[in-house]
Amino acid sequence: MQTHLAGRDMITTQEWTRDEIDTVLEVAYDFKRKRALGEPHAVLRDKVLAMLFFFSSTRTRVSFEAGMAQLGGHAQFIDHRSTQISHGDTAKEIGEIIGRYTDGIAIRQCDWGVGNQYIRDVAEASRVPVLNMQCDVYHPFQILADLMTIQEYFGRESLKGKTINVSWAYASSYQKPMSVPQSLILLMTRYGMNVRLTHPPEFKLMDDIVEQARENARKHGGSFEILDDFDAGFKDADIVYPKSWGAMLTTTDPAESAAIASNYTDWITDERRMALAKEHAIYMHCLPADRNIEVTDAVLDGPQSIVYDEAENRLHVQKAVMALTMR
Ligand code: CP
Repeated sequence: MQTHLAGRDMITTQEWTRDEIDTVLEVAYDFKRKRALGEPHAVLRDKVLAMLFFFSSTRTRVSFEAGMAQLGGHAQFIDHRSTQISHGDTAKEIGEIIGRYTDGIAIRQCDWGVGNQYIRDVAEASRVPVLNMQCDVYHPFQILADLMTIQEYFGRESLKGKTINVSWAYASSYQKPMSVPQSLILLMTRYGMNVRLTHPPEFKLMDDIVEQARENARKHGGSFEILDDFDAGFKDADIVYPKSWGAMLTTTDPAESAAIASNYTDWITDERRMALAKEHAIYMHCLPADRNIEVTDAVLDGPQSIVYDEAENRLHVQKAVMALTMR
C-alpha cells in the first residue's frame, strides 16, 4: 500500500503505478464497507473541492458532490454557463486562483483537442491536486470504477487471462468522447487481461494510446488485438463493454461523424450477441446509453448487466482518490 499520494493529480491512470492504483482500490473497498455499515469516515473535514464543468454530467457531478460530503468536506459546482470559466479566465488563472481557495480542483472539459491540454495547464499552475472528471482523451474515474466492479465480479486475483471486448456501438444522440474506450484499453492491459478493441475502420482511437495499450499488454502478460467485426468481438468474451464514440480521427465535423455512424446502425447489443459471449459474461456500460439504439432494454436491464454496480463504484473510487490526494 502506498502512503505518499498527497498532492498528486489524477489526469490518467497511466501516470499512476500499479501499486498506487491498487492502493486506490484498497481504500475504495474500505470506504464502500464503511458506508454499508454506516461508519463515519470524515477524513477530509473542512476541505473544499471545486468542480468545474464545461460539459454536462449526471453521475460524475452527483458522485463527487456526495463523496465530498461523506468525507466531511464540501464540493462546489461551477458551471461554465453561469461563471466566467469558459471565457476570460485562463487555465493559468483558474489553477492559481481556485488553487488558493480550495484543496482540490476537479474538471470536466471534453472538447476535442482542447480538454486534456486545458486540465494539464490548470494543473501546472495549481498548488492543489487536479482531478480529471473526463476530458477528450481520458476518463480515469470511470475506468477505476470499472476495474473495481470487474474485480468484485471475478475476484481480485482472477483477472489475468479474462477477455474484455471494448467495442464501438451505434448511438444517435451525439458524438461521444473516446475517453472511455481509451482509458479502458490502457488500464485493463495493465491487469493481464486479454483486451479486444472492436470498431468500424472510421472509429479508430489515438495511435499513441493504442501503442501504450500494446506495450502494457506486453509488460503485464496479457494481449491486445483490434477487430472490425461487431459479432466477432463478443465471441467467448468474459466482459463486454460496447459503447458509442465519435469518429474524431476521421472528421472533426460532428454532422459528418454522425453520417458515418449511420452506416453502422446494426451495431446494437442485443440478446443474440450476448449469447456469443461466455455464459457467465457480464455487460458493462458507463452510461448514459441510447436505449434500444446502442443496447436493447433486454440486455441493459437483463441478468448479465452490472451497470448499476459500475455506477455505484464511481462514488467509492472517487472518495478514495480524494482522500489520498487532498490531505
Ligand atoms: N459515466 C459518466 O461519466 O456519466 P455522466 O456523464 O453522467 O457523469
